[in-house]
Amino acid sequence: MPARASIPAHKDLTEILVTDAQIKRRLRVLGREIDKTYGDQEITVIAIINGALLFAGDLLRQIACPVRYDCVRVSSYRNATKAVTEPEIRSSITIDVENRQVLLIDDILDTGKTLSAVVKLIKTLNPASVRTCVLLDKRGRREVTFEADFVGFQIPDRFVVGYGLDFAERYRNLPCIGVLKPELQNPPEWS
Ligand code: IMP
Ligand code: MG
Repeated sequence: MPARASIPAHKDLTEILVTDAQIKRRLRVLGREIDKTYGDQEITVIAIINGALLFAGDLLRQIACPVRYDCVRVSSYRNATKAVTEPEIRSSITIDVENRQVLLIDDILDTGKTLSAVVKLIKTLNPASVRTCVLLDKRGRREVTFEADFVGFQIPDRFVVGYGLDFAERYRNLPCIGVLKPELQNPPEWS
């Protein structure tokens, strides 16, 4: 569990779970772990957007091995704080992954359905390997069996925003990860 900071960075947060300084430190370590795993091999990084945007951008700068990069757009949340639909692949990758070392990056591993669906899709394209990296892991909420190869932080079952994570496309720009005030989740005017 990450250490908690006491001062909220934003009036809509009840609590900060991971500070921007903690994220920066952890990303340096994750970058080293990824470099150690792949050595000099080129990796094909695929970020699941929108959520992984900030994480992927910062993590890529901590990776020394050669990188090819693409994104896949997946949506399942709509404007709710619980997944209301099965993950839907809205826009798929455009670079080839056949015989490539693929590293999928997502913001958070929750029920596991999103990453399972994307891994399944990538595997149909005959990559040499597929690994996954997530900034956050809510292990207690899994609905399908899935573990990521690289994890930034384990967090409790709370709805969090910031550093790429959103509620109704808001709060992605916060530099830290925080718990959204319960009264701001699912307000009628946003649904
Ligand atoms: P999963 O398919 O349930 O594992 O959910 C993964 C996706 O759900 C992530 O990529 C996020 O977009 C979203 N998600 C899950 N938990 C949260 C949260 O606490 N805050 C914001 N988005 C979340
Ligand atoms: Mg989202």
